[in-house]
Amino acid sequence: MAIDPNWVRKLAAVAALAPSADNSQPWTLRWNGSELAIAFELRHQTHRVFGADSHATLISVGALTDHLQAALARNAMPVNWQWPSDPALGRPYVSVALHDAPANFASPEGALRRHTNRSIYRRDPLPSDVVRELDGYREGSNRAVLVVDRPQKSGLIRLVRLSSEGRFCNQQLHEWLIGSLRFTPEEVARGDGLDVRTLGLPPGGKQFLRLISDWRRLAVLNRLGAYKLLALSDFAALTAAPALVCVVGAADARNVIDAGRLMTRLWTDLNLKGLAVHPYYVVTDQINRLRAGTLAPGFEPKIAAVDEEMHRLLQLQSGETLHMILRVGYPNAEPLRSKRLPLEAVFVDDSQPKTAQAR
Ligand SMILES: Cc1cc2nc3c(=O)[nH]c(=O)nc-3n(C[C@H](O)[C@H](O)[C@H](O)COP(=O)(O)O)c2cc1C
Repeated sequence: MAIDPNWVRKLAAVAALAPSADNSQPWTLRWNGSELAIAFELRHQTHRVFGADSHATLISVGALTDHLQAALARNAMPVNWQWPSDPALGRPYVSVALHDAPANFASPEGALRRHTNRSIYRRDPLPSDVVRELDGYREGSNRAVLVVDRPQKSGLIRLVRLSSEGRFCNQQLHEWLIGSLRFTPEEVARGDGLDVRTLGLPPGGKQFLRLISDWRRLAVLNRLGAYKLLALSDFAALTAAPALVCVVGAADARNVIDAGRLMTRLWTDLNLKGLAVHPYYVVTDQINRLRAGTLAPGFEPKIAAVDEEMHRLLQLQSGETLHMILRVGYPNAEPLRSKRLPLEAVFVDDSQPKTAQAR
């Protein structure tokens, strides 16, 4: 039986709540009446930092896939992903045929509740059942690695700091970040990027961000060591958190998408258990930039050392890489939730005549 297009709209709206790097939402969901396909959409016209095949985009696509999977499971629908021969092209990344939908769409609670919390967490340890269950989180070649032991955690926090130093010296990354920031209510209302109120900034932080938004100014300040201070800004939050959870696995496109699925499933489950989650991507990003030759000048030896140390700390097997670090703990406060683009910007219904869609 043909599926009600409104049912598919509701499904797409849940999928669109998935997390993406700097809330860039680099996707379109296209419905043709029988299949829903996820394709790449370039949203930052000026700062092409994360392309269709970039690791960050593939992780985000995995996140979207996980939201779809959760919504379809909630509605007792079978999920049969169709993978193209080269998913990294994003034309599409993946698609799913839909049939026999129930009359009413049921929303999956987890996808509605999952969010980023950048505040400082309480020090209480993770409950033992959560620790035990982490072992069972797998997707493709990917797995979760729990870091609670103090020397191992300090070692990882040091790698975050060294990688952040590289990030704050990288003009392209800085301009992408500044281009993602939303300061005014009008900017926030666009529904993408990072509302500065969600960043957990200290007093004066917003003004400081404005000050350094011009790369030339930050470049001058960096000569005085500003990048080292900026890289320390996450230190207190990382140190206070009782646990860091890393998603690790193989680096090919399918496995990176699977890593995004695993990350999101884990993140959602933790949120449902009342635990807060804050992803840190900077180590992965700088290591990928080392491989791509797009690091800030002079950072190659430092990031090569970070890569080596990260493999040692997390005891990675050959061929495995770090996809994401999640800071996890009990929150002190509920954070402001980030918005999303209007559904019309991310969902295209080709099954309907254009005039019907406009109504
Ligand atoms: C690939 C990827 C990388 C991310 N990297 C970071 C990061 O380094 N720091 C951070 O604070 N949030 C990071 N995030 C979280 C996003 O900024 C966040 O998911 C997005 O703004 C949407 O907000 P929400 O998770 O509350 O829905 C990342 C998310 C993804 C999917």
